[in-house]
Amino acid sequence: MIEELAGLERQALAAVREAKDGGALERVRVRYLGRREGLVSGLLRKLGTIDPADRPAAGAAANRTRKTLEKALDERSRELAALAEADPAHVDLTLPARRKWRGTIHPVSRVVDDIWAIFRSLGFTRARGPEVDTEWYNFVALNTPLDHPAADEQDTLYLAPGLLLRSHTSPVQIRTMERYPPPIRIVAPGMVYRRDTYDATHTPAFAQIEGLVVDEGVTFVDLKATLAEFGRRFWGPGTEVRFRPSFFPFTEPSAEVDVKRVIVRDDGSRETTDWIEVMGAGMVDPAVLENVGYDSERYTGWAFGMGPARAAMLRHGVSDLRLFYENDMRFLRQFA
Ligand code: PHE
Repeated sequence: MIEELAGLERQALAAVREAKDGGALERVRVRYLGRREGLVSGLLRKLGTIDPADRPAAGAAANRTRKTLEKALDERSRELAALAEADPAHVDLTLPARRKWRGTIHPVSRVVDDIWAIFRSLGFTRARGPEVDTEWYNFVALNTPLDHPAADEQDTLYLAPGLLLRSHTSPVQIRTMERYPPPIRIVAPGMVYRRDTYDATHTPAFAQIEGLVVDEGVTFVDLKATLAEFGRRFWGPGTEVRFRPSFFPFTEPSAEVDVKRVIVRDDGSRETTDWIEVMGAGMVDPAVLENVGYDSERYTGWAFGMGPARAAMLRHGVSDLRLFYENDMRFLRQFA
């Protein structure tokens, strides 16, 4: 029986080598290893009829043959597949094409770009600063004492004593004024970090965009007029801007800025929204100007800070801020 097996194995290996395609290979498999008609299987069935003393050796030999053939079939099948792939005649031109993945601008980046474009046309340039910054830039130079609640570890992510992840883009005001003399007109977009709970309106990392104007004779009127013009260009004609008194250590007076938008529907009907808070703003505190060596008797300025993701929420009617930062493709693709 062992000789018979060896003979079958030789035959079968030759047949495997000769098989020219998947179909032929499958026929070889069935002929030798098929459960019912297969020659090797048939031989195994006869195991019961031979001398019991010879059975273990014959059984082991049959199993070896089966394994050898399975391996040979496998290898040949891979070989044939590789050959088929390399052969241009086998390229199936009727298969549907795979869609190209095309990247798009993130909706928050798009808002930043739009905001930037508006301010650029009003004569502003773009500035930037580091995301890892010092207590001096993030708080002290901005007239915020270190015992102010914002400087607390409860609210700010410290990396080391005195070193932190900036909690707003306002330190870029200081860095810009330190480097350049007035007049200043900049917007500074970037990521900021806070120890906030993660919910529909807060994330520990979010985008902000800062604005700063410093020159001789700059007044609250400039601030109001510029932000009203920005509001109309960004949210559409008919947008109203309202200033509510507020407090920031680095501006005096300070305001929260709300907008009220007019939404024009496709059928021409109009709807006016409620007042929505969109940014903080104010006149730069003279102490801040003095901290960077500006003469606060001669120069005045105003600044604002807003969250472009909030603006994106308003723009697209999205009610959960987290969606903009989770980067789920199913969400992002809608803005393609
Ligand atoms: N930095 C303030 C904040 O993050 C916003 C702000 C910027 C307010 C500039 C006034 C002037 O809340």
